[in-house]
Amino acid sequence: MKTEHMKSEQEYYVDIHCHCLPAVDDGPITMSESLSLCRALADDCITDVIATPHQLGRFSDCNEAAQIRDQVAALNEELESNGISLNVVPGGDVRLDERMCRLIEADKVLTLADGGKYVLLELPHEVFIDIETLLVELSSLDIRAIISHPERHPIIARRPRVLLKWLEQSAYLQVTSASLLGDFGTLAQKAAWHFLNLGWVSFVATDAHDLDGRSPCMKAAFGSICARLGGAMARLVCIENPLRVLEGRDVLSARSMSTRKWIYERVPSNS
Ligand SMILES: [Fe+2]
Repeated sequence: MKTEHMKSEQEYYVDIHCHCLPAVDDGPITMSESLSLCRALADDCITDVIATPHQLGRFSDCNEAAQIRDQVAALNEELESNGISLNVVPGGDVRLDERMCRLIEADKVLTLADGGKYVLLELPHEVFIDIETLLVELSSLDIRAIISHPERHPIIARRPRVLLKWLEQSAYLQVTSASLLGDFGTLAQKAAWHFLNLGWVSFVATDAHDLDGRSPCMKAAFGSICARLGGAMARLVCIENPLRVLEGRDVLSARSMSTRKWIYERVPSNS
């Protein structure tokens, strides 16, 4: 890690979900584009990023763990030689798949920061699938699922109650920084704030892909959370918990910071 987080006036962030590797998915195509995105991440006060290229789903036949590790090493070399202060570690944005546990054990699918403790789980957005069985299987391997951007899943955003069972099974939620700012529409924005307000969210991450429509905006999201829910919540979901994933430590709960009860509440009907 290159910077001591929360030490100075300026806050620094760890991004646990980012598509910054070149030519592996729908992120940057060239190394030059990748370096531009990494420069933007560093400018956004991100010191460490977990590269999470898509795995499984439409990327089933590529992006295996060994390849991603090599590409992360190559990107870190380029960052160093281009004077960009950003530390990249391997991970995956893993599409829901019944083979997931087997593929993790076979070292084909990556856990976050390659630490064997957390997997970033991407649900298909066009249908609703109950992941209860997968969560049990992951638990048997001592792995916790971090569900990526549930606020952008239209069915979950309208029926947040479905998340309760998974949360009680010890899954974590990660919302996208841009969702909080409204870049994914009103439904996603309201759902993201609703989940945060309930203390259901453990992480905010960029899910950045490029510098056009999917650029990083951690600083803006952090400021917005500070203004609405206070600095303690903002630091927990943008700094402390992401750092804990990077270092393979246990995640802290946001529930105690929520002013709302740990119960089902509907997203306001005007969403
Ligand atoms: Fe992603």
